[in-house]
Amino acid sequence: MKPLTILGIESSCDETSASVMENRQVLSNVIANQDIHIKYGGVVPELASRAHQSNIVPVVHETLTRANRKMEDLDAIAYTIGPGLVGALMVGSSFAKGLSIGLNLPLVEVHHMKAHVLSHLIVDSAQKNPEFPFLCLTVSGGHTQIVVVESPLNQKIIGSTRDDAAGEAFDKSAKILGLPYPGGPLIDKYAKEGDPFKFKFTEPDIEGLDFSFSGLKTNVLYFVRDQVKLNPDFVSIELPHLCASIQHTIVSILINKIKKAMDETGIKRIAIAGGVSANSGLRRALMDLQKDDCEVFIPKFEYCTDNAAMIAIYGHYEFLEANFGSLESIPKARFSF
Ligand code: KG4
Ligand code: ZN
Repeated sequence: MKPLTILGIESSCDETSASVMENRQVLSNVIANQDIHIKYGGVVPELASRAHQSNIVPVVHETLTRANRKMEDLDAIAYTIGPGLVGALMVGSSFAKGLSIGLNLPLVEVHHMKAHVLSHLIVDSAQKNPEFPFLCLTVSGGHTQIVVVESPLNQKIIGSTRDDAAGEAFDKSAKILGLPYPGGPLIDKYAKEGDPFKFKFTEPDIEGLDFSFSGLKTNVLYFVRDQVKLNPDFVSIELPHLCASIQHTIVSILINKIKKAMDETGIKRIAIAGGVSANSGLRRALMDLQKDDCEVFIPKFEYCTDNAAMIAIYGHYEFLEANFGSLESIPKARFSF
């Protein structure tokens, strides 16, 4: 039987990505990053759209070449319809629609956050797939959620952030320390050399399974401002300890809520997804948690941050249900879960 071959396209923020997937296996997953935003300290939407425009054709071409597949081998085109930056989403959606008309192929509209969760169902020798139901802690630059996953297409949010996302907490704290965007990976890097208990930052007291990270950012801002008044070199001298302490606080907030979610749902399978799941402190804390009778699933590194393989796997499951998209659909900056 011919395998199910899906082309996934992702363009919701500042990564242009395309992937060819065959029966849940990734044949190629090409990701073009956009360095242009570094000097602005954050993603500039208009520049992101323009970079997607220049990247999309070569990225799709490259992914088909690496997969050793032709356009004619495809069964469907899955693309991110939201949530994300509208101008950025528009590039992937227009390209996907054009291809669908040209090749007479069905379209599948993909929810970016649900796709992050399904990165766990990609078949890859380097990762194991969780059984259902499982809990997924989805932590990215724009979202922080705990999701109960009953089946690939049955996902329900049981906790989410009331203000900043975990990735934002990393990036904004990094900015206060004078680190370039995106600061998350840099905090992770410097934290390796630092003492996580040297500085104590506040953890919010939020009921239930919701999160809050805006207090931490303010805490870091005032603390650093006061210390710099006493010693202008404070940040450069203490950088590793500051990074380790900030990372420790964010990870502790996340781990405490995930423990609570396990208690409340009785589900002992924990997966993480989204860009922050690349964080080594979070990965380590989850591995420690695994010692307490729960099973932990950490995606392969390239499936953590934004990528099109996760879009293709979501497309795979929607295709099996014949849930196809329409040429009339427009990208959604906000997209209910
Ligand atoms: O999922 P993602 O690639 O894009 C969004 O959909 O937002 O997540 C990007 C976020 C950024 O905030 C980035 O700083 C964070 O993930 N991130 C990290 C690490 N790698 C990426 N945060 C902490 N440690 C890392 N190693
Ligand atoms: Zn994402």
